[in-house]
Amino acid sequence: MTREEFIPLRDFIYEKTGIFFAENKMYLLESRLSNRLSELGFETYNDYYFFLKYGNEDAKKEMIYLLDVVTTNETSFFRNPPQLDAFRIIMEKNYFKNTNGQGMPLKIWSAACSTGEEPYTLAIILLELMELTKRNIPFIIYATDISYRVLEAAKKGVYGPYSIRGMDQTMLNKYFTKNGDTYIVKDIVKKNVKFDFMNLIDKQSYVKYRFMDIIFCRNVLIYFDDKAKKRVIDSIYECLKPGGFLTIGHAESLHNISRAFKPIMFPGSIVYQKG
Ligand SMILES: C[S@@+](CC[C@H](N)C(=O)[O-])C[C@H]1O[C@@H](n2cnc3c(N)ncnc32)[C@H](O)[C@@H]1O
Repeated sequence: MTREEFIPLRDFIYEKTGIFFAENKMYLLESRLSNRLSELGFETYNDYYFFLKYGNEDAKKEMIYLLDVVTTNETSFFRNPPQLDAFRIIMEKNYFKNTNGQGMPLKIWSAACSTGEEPYTLAIILLELMELTKRNIPFIIYATDISYRVLEAAKKGVYGPYSIRGMDQTMLNKYFTKNGDTYIVKDIVKKNVKFDFMNLIDKQSYVKYRFMDIIFCRNVLIYFDDKAKKRVIDSIYECLKPGGFLTIGHAESLHNISRAFKPIMFPGSIVYQKG
C-alpha cells in the first residue's frame, strides 16, 4: 500500500465509521485488507477503494466485510471491575432502594458491545442485585455495534475460556451452561439483552435510544479522532435521561471533548452524569 492509496481509503473509513487510522497505522490497515483484495481479485488498493466508493449493491455488501476488518473487538466478561463496582453502587443507590419495580423498566445501553460480554455482564450484575435486595426491577439492555460479525456471535452467546477468565466458578455455574470447552449464556441473562446494528457516527440512528438511565460506551472512542469523539458524546448526551450516567473506557477521557457532564468519582473509576 502506498501513501497515495492509503489516504483516500483511510478518509473513506473515517467518514463511514469515525475510526481514524493515523499514518503510522498504514501497515495495520494493509495487513487487515490484503487477503480480502486477493480474494476479490483487486490488484491495487485504489481499485478496492473505487469499488467501495462507487460500486453499487456489491459495494454495500462489501461494507459489511470492511466494518469487520477495521474494528478491534477485544472484550471480556467483567472487564474493568472498578467500573462495574461503580455501576453496582449507582444502581443500588438510585434504582433499587426507592423503587418497587412498578415504573418504567430500567434502560441501559451498551454502545459498541462487541461480542456481547459487556451487556451480558451488566445483566448478570442486575440479576445478582435483584436477588440480594429481593426486588424485581424490570430492565432492558440495548446492545449495539457496527460489526455484523460480532453481533452474530453476541446473539449466540457461546464463549471460550479467554472471554470468561474474569469470572468466578459460582457465577459461571449460575449463569452459563458448560459444553466441553465452551460456556453458553443462560436464557435468564439473554432475555434481557437486545442486540442491534448501530453506527455511532450516524446521528440519525440515535433516535431509537432515548431516555437511557445509563450508557456504557467503553473502549471505542480511542479509535476516533477528537471531532468524531465530540460528535458521538454530544449524541450520547441527548440519549440520556436527565441525571443519567455515562461510563467510558478507563483509559479514555472527556477532557477537551465535552463539558456537559458532571464527573463523579468512585474508587478506581469516574462516571459522568448528565445534569
Ligand atoms: C474494543 S471493543 C469494546 C467492547 C466493549 N465495549 C468493551 O469495552 O469491552 C470496540 C467495539 O467498538 C465497535 N465500533 C467501532 N466503531 C464503531 C462505530 N462507529 N459504531 C458502533 N460501534 C463501533 C467495534 O466493532 C468493536 O466491537
